[in-house]
Amino acid sequence: MATALIVLAAGKGTRMNSDLPKVMHEVAGAPLFAHALASGAMLDPERAVLVVGHGAETVGKAARALDPDIIIAEQTEQLGTAHAVAQARDALNGFDGDAIVLYGDTPFIRPETLEAMAAERAGGADVVVLGFEATDPGRYGRLITQDNALERIVEFKDATDEERAVTLCNSGVVAAKASTLFDLIDGVGNDNAAEEYYLTDIIGIARARGLSARVVTCDEAETMGINARAELAAAEDVFQTRARTEAMENGVTLVAADTVYFSHDTVIGRDTVVEPNVVFGPGVTIESDTRIRAFSHLEGCHVSRGGVVGPYARLRPGAELAEDAKIGNFVEIKNAQIEEGAKVNHLSYVGDARVGAEANIGAGTITCNYDGVSKHHTDIGARAFIGSNTCLVAPVSVGDEAMTATGTVVTKNVPAGAMAVGRAKIEIKPGLAVKLFEKLKAAKARRQKGS
Ligand code: UD1
Ligand code: CA
Repeated sequence: MATALIVLAAGKGTRMNSDLPKVMHEVAGAPLFAHALASGAMLDPERAVLVVGHGAETVGKAARALDPDIIIAEQTEQLGTAHAVAQARDALNGFDGDAIVLYGDTPFIRPETLEAMAAERAGGADVVVLGFEATDPGRYGRLITQDNALERIVEFKDATDEERAVTLCNSGVVAAKASTLFDLIDGVGNDNAAEEYYLTDIIGIARARGLSARVVTCDEAETMGINARAELAAAEDVFQTRARTEAMENGVTLVAADTVYFSHDTVIGRDTVVEPNVVFGPGVTIESDTRIRAFSHLEGCHVSRGGVVGPYARLRPGAELAEDAKIGNFVEIKNAQIEEGAKVNHLSYVGDARVGAEANIGAGTITCNYDGVSKHHTDIGARAFIGSNTCLVAPVSVGDEAMTATGTVVTKNVPAGAMAVGRAKIEIKPGLAVKLFEKLKAAKARRQKGS
């Protein structure tokens, strides 16, 4: 069955106390709405519609950047969840499959759970709702069932005491044939405590029309919605705990698991060791058998097999380490290829560059890549030896097996096999240090006597 996603993300999120629309707040380095889209993406949807309202422009732009095919539908007034879904009607014109409604502020619904819902639909249920047994049902909508059938959903505000005693709650996720969904929504009114068009009303309407409705349940942790900063922090914690467990199950050693932070898309190969206090920003792939040493920060980079990074290293977007490359302490790498077996071991900045295979970059080397207006490239050949404290003023190249002398400011290309020396000549004056010390000490003694 072809599937379409409808992700509701128009709400303001007043309780976040933020200038940012709620769904733009991030968990694991990705905005909340992107998590909902990602779990839905596993169903390989034919169309994905994001319903935006508050901060429509910001959310729409961020969504298009992630997925150019996404369809943005605007809900200019937030009149309720049914009204929000109705805004996706035009976007699904001519679509003949199933629609799944997700909430943009609910990041943890597992793809397997959505598959279970799809299976229930395939099994003949006209409408499928995702429910969960709540430890504290609070203000969630309650699922009123009889035997295995879902009769209706009642919102907390409208529920009787008896209904409030029900612990089977509504997650908000709904699946139905798209045309059925919109037909049912047409029947929804706003005669309720909140004067909103409740999506939840479609169940009672469906049953009255002789359609069937069923519940698929999931773990409460999956349905966690984010409404306030404390919940955002709790969600981050849930994500990190899960990511750490998963990494260790995949054969990654985390020396101090609680101090390692992952992003939504971090990939780490088997038998890699991650030392304490490492942060993985978005877009990191680490191959097998590498070591990421303590206090390193990585984002948008790739570390190949056998690589060693840190301690205290920073790999920024575009850092590409080939096999057995070594990046040491207090080294920053940005948009640079570090080829096989090359070493940048101490206190360096390498940006917009290529470092050839087996090259050795001495301590304190800086690629001066920025002239205040534009960025320029530095090319360093294989087995080159860059002396400590070399400044490479880009654009510039150092050929294969070339050398630069310590302290050289390289402003010209260095051919293969050549040596570049660019520093003031040193002069040695015998005995001068002793004389100078005596003079300075005598001056100090005179000053102290005088005072
Ligand atoms: C909703 C459900 C409730 C369920 C709970 C689970 C309804 C009527 N109630 O309640 O049964 O237990 O979720 O968390 O559906 N949104 C829009 N436009 C609107 C209104 C909402 O896009 O006009 C979006 C919000 O941004 C949010 C989602 O829909 O992502 C849910 O809306 P919210 O107002 O939080 O619903 P609840 O009252 O929590
Ligand atoms: Ca909510």
